[in-house]
Amino acid sequence: MRIVDEYDPNLPLDHASTIPASWYVNKELYEAELKSVFSNTWQLAARVDQVAQPGQYVTTDVAGEPIVVVRGNDGVLRAFFNVCRHHAAAVMTEPQGNAAQLRCPYHGWTYSLEGELKGTPDFSGVCDFDRARNGLVPVEMLEWENWVFVKLQSSEFSFTTDLTNEIGTLNLGGLHWFERRHYHFDCNWKVFVDNYLDGGYHVPYLHKGLDSVLDYSQYMIENGEIHCLQWSPMVSDGAEAQTGAVRKGDRALYYWIYPNFMINVYDGVMDTNLVVPRGVDQTEVIFDFYFPDVTSNEARARNKASVEVGQRIQDEDTAICKSVQRGLTSRAYNAGRLSVRREAGEHLFHRLLHADLSTSAE
Ligand code: FES
Ligand SMILES: [Fe+2]
Repeated sequence: MRIVDEYDPNLPLDHASTIPASWYVNKELYEAELKSVFSNTWQLAARVDQVAQPGQYVTTDVAGEPIVVVRGNDGVLRAFFNVCRHHAAAVMTEPQGNAAQLRCPYHGWTYSLEGELKGTPDFSGVCDFDRARNGLVPVEMLEWENWVFVKLQSSEFSFTTDLTNEIGTLNLGGLHWFERRHYHFDCNWKVFVDNYLDGGYHVPYLHKGLDSVLDYSQYMIENGEIHCLQWSPMVSDGAEAQTGAVRKGDRALYYWIYPNFMINVYDGVMDTNLVVPRGVDQTEVIFDFYFPDVTSNEARARNKASVEVGQRIQDEDTAICKSVQRGLTSRAYNAGRLSVRREAGEHLFHRLLHADLSTSAE
């Protein structure tokens, strides 16, 4: 992993460069990220509202591995590798649902909602097979705010007290899930994260609508240990109509939590972004939109309009992310310098990545 050492994490921001271009295109580094960065950190697996009742489950994949989150008959929420102990098929195959038991579609092995192996058709006479030791393999799980996170391997990584306190003050429990959208980007996942963490640098150029409601000169960047808060006061004078109608309040808060989760909060609106690597130059970003009122007709129309503004902003980012990915493969580019005023968040991201990748390469 020679290319990991090409980055110097000790340079202060005013001397630092980005991580090298090879980190965005190299397949071995990509595999190493799945095994370290995406396996050592809390990864969003479900929303709490999806698994509120016994029997409700959600399937997902984390670092390429299948996961199921399910609430047991005892009311306890658990997460497992969604991998049958027989011949490894995915036990649950729907994205979410309600089940009395977890039955594998391949040969019908059945697990309880608590993960114990209960039924094994045509399996008598198999020697030294202990059913009790062949339950679904559990995964570390954490319920935090509106979400369920999993961590594939044990590590030092935790959500810091700073972060949990800050997010705690936002009272996100009063917001309800409204809609999910999936966006596809032709770039490495880090291109999307860098774009998010540039301290609003690209906003006046790329997002004219959004720019009209933010006070760009006042944009603040505050790094924590494993998160970055970017925030901006909002203005209503001169706001572009479509954006101004749905992006109100005093402040816009943009939280990024290492490595790939973002929480964006405006007055009475929240969206979260989960950045999922789908290949070295392919990225899926899953957006969940939340609002205080998701039932009344009037609110639903307003919520829809808000989601559409979000869609427009993503569309504006799609082309630039693709353009950056292409440039990163050019022989003319290796790394770029960082704006001291704007790009402290990217600097934190790159240093945390380096730390993860260099420990896993040891
Ligand atoms: S793989 Fe699940 S029952 Fe055979
Ligand atoms: Fe953007």
